[in-house]
Amino acid sequence: MSDAPPKKITVPQLVAMKQAHHKITVVTAYDYTMARLVDAAEIECILVGDSVGMVVQGRPNTLPVTLDQMIYHAEMVGRAVHHALTVVDLPFPSFLLGVSRTIENAARVLKETGCQAVKLEGGAERAEVIAALVSAGIPVMAHCGLRPQAICQLGGYRVQRDHDRLMADAKAAEQAGAFSIVLECVPAPLAAEVTAALQIPTIGIGAGAGCDGQVLVLHDLLGLTLDRSPRHVKRYAQLKETVVQAVGQFRDEVREGKFPTDEQAFH
Ligand code: KIV
Repeated sequence: MSDAPPKKITVPQLVAMKQAHHKITVVTAYDYTMARLVDAAEIECILVGDSVGMVVQGRPNTLPVTLDQMIYHAEMVGRAVHHALTVVDLPFPSFLLGVSRTIENAARVLKETGCQAVKLEGGAERAEVIAALVSAGIPVMAHCGLRPQAICQLGGYRVQRDHDRLMADAKAAEQAGAFSIVLECVPAPLAAEVTAALQIPTIGIGAGAGCDGQVLVLHDLLGLTLDRSPRHVKRYAQLKETVVQAVGQFRDEVREGKFPTDEQAFH
């Protein structure tokens, strides 16, 4: 880790990266240690995703995650991160209960976590709430295409191919004041077309190389995911195997009396 004081990325700086054709990297984090390590890689944005429900809590989907749980995780991340812009997912249904309750919930996130922005799923149908949050000074990242919180309605995690709906959602979110939009599981040519039609950056996940940035779930990227990873994931490490191997070696050394040695003992 460098000793130089890190400069915090701001919302306007992230938006300006699109005009500068500088690709944006976003990674999720859910706890202090991992957030510090991710931030040390000097990426632009860290997302405290409600994917915490699946990769940390072992739930089948993101629906059970509560606002208090998001705040619990985001506070740890907010304390750890000194460089990246830190965005927190609003969990289901914390932004679906009317404008004033949504502002109350999103304001809690900023006040109690030290993070700088919220993300919410939806486009055109959430335009009113996005505009209200933005006018309250709360930066919003929208999330269009596959919306995991709508899993019960969608019936599965499938590629979203409705051209007109995606374009309308993305444009409505931009017009409402969102500073960025996640495009999840969208055909690459469609995501590229949406990206070209917007002034704000798109952040793709399973949306091809034409987006302004890319996001991956940390556990997927590190090879820590227990089940089969989706097609859009690339593993940059194989930590699942490393963890099992390291704990297994510890077990063997305890059983064989090889640990602790004199080096780890006090006299
Ligand atoms: O919750 C999450 O981690 C997300 C990303 C996959 C974009 O929404």
